[in-house]
Amino acid sequence: MKYWREFKKYKQAFKFIEENKPKLIVEYGSGGSTYSLYKCLEELNYGGKLITYEDNSEWYNKIIEDFPFLKDTVKLVEIETIDSKKGYLRYSHNLEDIKEAELVILDGPDYKLFLTEDGGPSNVTTNLEDIVNYLGKEIPFFIDGREGCVRYYNNLNYTKHIIQPLEDATDGNKV
Ligand SMILES: C[S@@+](CC[C@H](N)C(=O)[O-])C[C@H]1O[C@@H](n2cnc3c(N)ncnc32)[C@H](O)[C@@H]1O
Repeated sequence: MKYWREFKKYKQAFKFIEENKPKLIVEYGSGGSTYSLYKCLEELNYGGKLITYEDNSEWYNKIIEDFPFLKDTVKLVEIETIDSKKGYLRYSHNLEDIKEAELVILDGPDYKLFLTEDGGPSNVTTNLEDIVNYLGKEIPFFIDGREGCVRYYNNLNYTKHIIQPLEDATDGNKV
């Protein structure tokens, strides 16, 4: 597994973490990134916590098998369809668990597995909006790729977007 500073697609998220030391990082869509975030927090050692949500049970089992120390970090949850015409999805979990969130990372689910009524892939993960509405304040957020999702949050005029440069997104680490 790569050293976390070499996990290029999340480079700007790691820069934000080093500079701002968010109390709780909430990631949607687990994988190698979760390993890197965990190792980053371990190395920086400022007391930051990480929760990541995953919907695919096979993928979840593989992550826990490969990295048993992530067992308390990765939570296996369901995906709810919010709008099947528009392709809006939500990881279903209790918002109380993430009320200390100071950074949200959107990198899931696999939209191809959740088709719209027209048969195309879904394109928006609404959890950031849910968190902002729940907390009543904006939260810094980072989106890996996911143009439809970026557009959705741009249209909501959220101001705390940590932009991913195109060259980082094309790191060859994508599903
Ligand atoms: C883009 S991946 C997220 C990966 C993670 N954030 C990372 O960068 O390592 C989005 C979702 O695709 C699914 N996925 C990714 N790779 C997979 C694999 N090899 N097998 C099964 N599911 C996979 C998982 O459900 C994952 O949450």
